[in-house]
Amino acid sequence: MDKDLTMERELTMEFARVTEAAALASARWVGRGNKEAADDAAVQAMRSVFDTIRMSGTVVIGEGEMDEAPMLYIGEKVGSGEPPELDVAVDPLEGTNIVAKGLAGAIAVVAIAKKGGLLHAPDMYMDKIAVGPQAKGKIHLDASVQDNLRSVAQALGKSMDDLTVVIMDRPRHDKIIHEVREAGARIRLITDGDVSPAVACAIEGTGIDIMMGVGGAPEGVLAAAALRCLGGEMQGRLWPENDADVLRAKSLGILDVSKLLTMNDLVCSDDVFFAATGITEGPLLKGVHFTAQGALTHTVVMRGKTGTVRFIEARHSFDKKPAYAMKGVI
Ligand code: FBP
Repeated sequence: MDKDLTMERELTMEFARVTEAAALASARWVGRGNKEAADDAAVQAMRSVFDTIRMSGTVVIGEGEMDEAPMLYIGEKVGSGEPPELDVAVDPLEGTNIVAKGLAGAIAVVAIAKKGGLLHAPDMYMDKIAVGPQAKGKIHLDASVQDNLRSVAQALGKSMDDLTVVIMDRPRHDKIIHEVREAGARIRLITDGDVSPAVACAIEGTGIDIMMGVGGAPEGVLAAAALRCLGGEMQGRLWPENDADVLRAKSLGILDVSKLLTMNDLVCSDDVFFAATGITEGPLLKGVHFTAQGALTHTVVMRGKTGTVRFIEARHSFDKKPAYAMKGVI
C-alpha cells in the first residue's frame, strides 16, 4: 500500500481529536459572558493536541500575528516536526459571541493541506457566496442576487420560495436581505459564525441552500476547504475597509485585492482535510453535552482526496482522561 496514503488517512482521526479538545474546553464557557476566556481555553486545548500529531505544520490562518497571539499565531510551528509538511488553518472557537451568550452555531474548526494549499487570507472581511455540489458552477459573486437565487433554485429543483439563504444579521447586509426577500426566497439570519452554514449548504438535510454576504476572510478559507471536500463551491472577494487592509493583503501575496477568488484560489488542491466539532447546537453539528461521567461531542471530518465525510459522535470519560475534565478552569 502507498505509505503516503496510509499516513494521510491516519491524520483524519488526529484532526478530529484536535477540534474535539478545543470544543470541550470552550464549552465550559457557554453562556458565561466571557468570550476571551472561551477563546483562550479553546486555543490552549487545540495547541496541546496538535503537538501529539506526527506532522510538521505551519499555521497560515490562526489567532493573529506573532506579537498579538501567544499561541497558534501565523507562522507558528505545530506538530512533532516530522514529515509531512502541512499548512494549517485554525479557528479554535468560531463564534466567540455565540459561546459567551450561549447561542447556536459555535464550532471548533481546522483545515489542513499540503504546503501551499491554502490561501493565506488576511484578517479582514471577504464578500462570499457558497453553495453545495448540485449548484456548483451556477453562481457568480458578481451576478445579481436574483440571478444567483434563480439558478440555484433551478439546480436544486426547488421553487424560489422553498430556497433558504443564510445571511449574517448586519446593517451591511440590508441591501441583499431586501433583494433576497424581493426575489421570494427564505432567509435565516444568524448572529455570528458563518463557517458552519457555508459548509451546511453542501450537506443534505441541513435545510440550508446558500450562504451569502460579507464575513471574515479566514473563515472563508476554512469553509472553502470543507466545500472542496464536499464538491460544493465558494467564491469570494476581499472587502478591505481601509489602506491598512490593502497593505495587509499585499503583504500576504494578494496583490490584486479586487480579484474574484475562486475555489482554486481559496484551496488549490483536493489534498485537504477539514474537521469541526460543535460547541453549541448548530445547523451542522450538535453541541458539547456534559454528562455525569464526561461529555459527548459531535464532529465532522472530511478528506478531499477521497471525498469521505465522517460524522463522529464521541463519548469522553473524564475519569480516564482527567485533562479533559478542565476542573477549576472557572
Ligand atoms: P469570532 O471571531 O468572534 O469567533 O467571530 C466569527 C464571525 O462571526 C465569523 O463567523 C464571521 O465571518 C465574522 O465573525 C463576522 O465579523 P463581524 O462580527 O465583524 O461582522
